[in-house]
Amino acid sequence: MKKMILFLSILVFCTASVATAVPKNKTLVFDKSSTGSVTFSGKIHKDAGISCKECHNKEMFPKMKQGTVEIKMKKIYAGELCGKCHNGTRAFAAKKNCKRCHVK
Ligand code: HEC
Ligand code: HEC
Ligand code: HEC
Repeated sequence: MKKMILFLSILVFCTASVATAVPKNKTLVFDKSSTGSVTFSGKIHKDAGISCKECHNKEMFPKMKQGTVEIKMKKIYAGELCGKCHNGTRAFAAKKNCKRCHVK
């Protein structure tokens, strides 16, 4: 039980420090695609009124750490990951807008 409490307090401490250490202006660059690198803007998404939890949850991006989830277009087109919103309803659709994400 003691170990559990210790673990939980470390977890809370880490999560809290991560949350405050991340300015909403943070950008992440995903550069593995030959179609061009993708710059993800924390500011644009925050300004669009999206909460951390909408992306940082079990189904999408559980960890607040880059490189923990492999992002493939197949998943995006299927409405997963970025495609949960980039489907032409909540945000521009992925299929016809490669260049809004991928920049060479
Ligand atoms: C629109 C989706 C989305 C929203 C909203 C979002 N994030 Fe993220 N965040 C991501 C993605 C995608 C990654 C990279 C995950 C990966 O590559 O596995 C990430 C990574 C991170 C990282 C790690 C950055 C690094 O350099 O490794 C932190 C810290 C983070 N997010 C904090 C936050 C906080 C705090 C909020 C709320 C203010 C937030 N995120 C809102 C999508 C989002
Ligand atoms: C929770 C919903 C949501 C998720 C998940 C999400 N986005 Fe967005 N994204 C938006 C909204 C809303 C906008 C702003 C409105 C628009 O431009 O359609 C936006 C804007 C953008 C823009 C700005 C494009 C421009 O031309 O201004 C890029 C690039 C982008 N998103 C990439 C990503 C990537 C990459 C991921 C996955 C790592 C992702 N988004 C996940 C909702 C989301
Ligand atoms: C909402 C943003 C977004 C849009 C729009 C988008 N992509 Fe992507 N794409 C990504 C992200 C993020 C990755 C992961 C890159 C990485 O891991 O470095 C990716 C990866 C890829 C990859 C390599 C992985 C794979 O699935 O094969 C290819 C190829 C690719 N995209 C092509 C395209 C094409 C073609 C289009 C338009 C028809 C497109 N993308 C539209 C965000 C987007």
